[in-house]
Amino acid sequence: MSDRYSLLILPGDGIGPEVMAEVVKVIDWFKTNRAMPFDIQHGLVGGSSYDAHGTPLTDETMALAQSVDAVLLGAVGGPKYDDLDFAVKPERGLLRLRKEMDLFANLRPAQCFDALADFSSLKREVVAGLDILIVRELTSGVYFGTPRGIEADPTPGNEGGRVGINTQRYTSGEIRRVARAAFELAAKRRGKVCSMEKANVMESGILWREETQWVHDNEYSQIELSHMYADNGLMQLVRKPAQFDVILTDNLFGDLLSDAAAMLTGSLGMLPSASLGAPMANGRPKALYEPVHGSAPDIAGQGKANPIACILSFAMALRYSFAEGKAADQLEAAVQTVLAEGVRTADLMGPEGGQPVSTSEMGDRIVAALSA
Ligand code: IPM
Ligand code: MG
Repeated sequence: MSDRYSLLILPGDGIGPEVMAEVVKVIDWFKTNRAMPFDIQHGLVGGSSYDAHGTPLTDETMALAQSVDAVLLGAVGGPKYDDLDFAVKPERGLLRLRKEMDLFANLRPAQCFDALADFSSLKREVVAGLDILIVRELTSGVYFGTPRGIEADPTPGNEGGRVGINTQRYTSGEIRRVARAAFELAAKRRGKVCSMEKANVMESGILWREETQWVHDNEYSQIELSHMYADNGLMQLVRKPAQFDVILTDNLFGDLLSDAAAMLTGSLGMLPSASLGAPMANGRPKALYEPVHGSAPDIAGQGKANPIACILSFAMALRYSFAEGKAADQLEAAVQTVLAEGVRTADLMGPEGGQPVSTSEMGDRIVAALSA
């Protein structure tokens, strides 16, 4: 294993650069105080890359992403880019990174911090202490399946009409590898996986259920596996979220379920994610870390954004890319401390008040809590 820790930072658009600036403070703290050997490079993705180069991700940046231990990404997109051609929309840059790095396992933990339980749209008693992990397949399914496109409708009688086509397609191998990732993670948690699909209406759902069960029966029979239709799963998630430990699901259902799970915890500004692929030659997995929230163009540039999701994404990088579990625990504890002290960015400001802080003050407080 290389003794250096190489990072590529892609702040992206909207609030991305603001929240990433706070992550850089945290990285600097670990370099200085824990002698962690980070080497940092910077690049562009999304609209900011389109503005500079006419593409949401250049081949050079793609190659750089393939060469580092971990990519840290802020957020992509914004209304300024709404009318661009589909192929150069900001999101295409992110999707290209996921696909070409083959980051098939997307980990989206939804934890409810005690200090924030009243911010959830659900009752405190339903969400207090909540700790679930969504494992979303990220490189296949309807996001990437072919045929796809918008074509002239060939149906006689519909001349002049069009058809929009996307394809939900999963292979056994794609399902098995992400299922293994979910079972491995469950083994380090409460030992339960609930797999969600629509086997009642989709063949890809039937295959998903069968392959997940196969991996379970042959390799992980000590884990408790259950299956739910995704619509019921989403309903159960808002009815009684604490019944879940790890939720395993496909790309599209995972997109929906993870936004809902995020809101359970009070603010989208709190939730990190890790997207992991196969191990590289140095033993570390291909990896990209990003907050679940988007680029929030409405508040960009005003110092209002909450940097915690991005900082917690870096904590996941410490844990999953660099096996620095203790440092990750320490960073997560620093975030808890600051929240318990009532330090609040605008999104976390509730009726009971608190100390209002800017994006950059929140970062400073978390760094101060690391030193305390
Ligand atoms: C997410 C986002 C992305 C997705 C968009 C920005 C392409 O919603 O990471 O959940 O749909 O996967
Ligand atoms: Mg989403």
